[in-house]
Amino acid sequence: MKRILSGIQPSGKLHIGNYFGMMKTMIDYMENSDLYVFIVDLHALTSVHDRERLGQGTLEAAADFLALGLDPDRCTFWVQSDLPEVCELTWILSTLTPMGLLERCHSFKDKTARGLTASHGLFSYPVLMAADILLFQSEIVPVGKDQKQHLEVARDIAIKFNNIFGDTFVVPEPAINESTAIVPGVDGQKMSKSYDNTIPIFLDDKPLRKRVMAIQTDSTPVEDPKDPDTCNLYALLKLFMTPQRLAEIRDLYIHGGAAYGHIKQELFELIRDYFADARLKKKELLANPDYLRGILGSGADKARAKATFTLDLVRDRVGLKY
Ligand code: ADP
Ligand code: TRP
Repeated sequence: MKRILSGIQPSGKLHIGNYFGMMKTMIDYMENSDLYVFIVDLHALTSVHDRERLGQGTLEAAADFLALGLDPDRCTFWVQSDLPEVCELTWILSTLTPMGLLERCHSFKDKTARGLTASHGLFSYPVLMAADILLFQSEIVPVGKDQKQHLEVARDIAIKFNNIFGDTFVVPEPAINESTAIVPGVDGQKMSKSYDNTIPIFLDDKPLRKRVMAIQTDSTPVEDPKDPDTCNLYALLKLFMTPQRLAEIRDLYIHGGAAYGHIKQELFELIRDYFADARLKKKELLANPDYLRGILGSGADKARAKATFTLDLVRDRVGLKY
């Protein structure tokens, strides 16, 4: 059985890009793998400095995963900061991470280009992520395309460590589902919590409809032909529509007759129905935060057993034992 691991930041409401890019893949992996899923609150701290928001966001992200079908008895599910061991490994790895490797990371370059002041934490974010992955000897890491470079950093660090200190870490492989690699937001850019362009999974009907109606489309008249493959609305339809209905809509795009307003209404109904059960389940879960805390606490205990094993080995390999 392959060991599969991935994490998500509790830095805002989880959206359909997170769902198709990562959460659904992880939930599907439950069937036949040794699965590790966690909420990376230490990473979120690089952008959220608000006690209430971070704490509540963490509980909500946990409720989201469980409501969408993650079964904590068939995986290891915890909150990153409950295992401070990862911070020790981060330090050890950071002593062999070249500055240049981190300076080249797109997510750091993009954030600073957008005017976010770069903290040391934001800069060293990929080292913490490498520690997350290597601490559990993960073989496969399912992520959206935006995280591919961070995975390469984790691989580079693992290889360098193994070269210097002897075989210690499994070198992880990314798993990127090409059909959902980048889900576009309502403005056509990558859907992201940081760009205010998301369609959150757990919106009530009215705000959900408003959000779907806000999807940007061009102003081509209904009867004119349109290119489905450059249309942001069409890219979102592909995630929810049956192949038959999608083929009909594609035909309308190509030969004229695609009315964006009607198509958006159809998309709204599809999203509403797709997540209807999960929405109810999430409400129930959030009504009982102590139940959620209990699940996360047991998950942390399970995760700690594995983490301690690797960390002991690492401490020994580098000479932190005397
Ligand atoms: P965000 O950009 O919204 O802050 P995160 O960085 O927390 O999202 O990403 C969590 C997971 O969801 C990652 O695996 C990431 O690759 C995936 N993901 C995020 N946005 C998208 C998207 N628009 N399309 C596909 N996958 C995505
Ligand atoms: N950086 C990832 C993101 O923003 C989240 C993350 C942190 C992660 N640690 C990880 C993903 C380890 C996979 C494995 O999406």
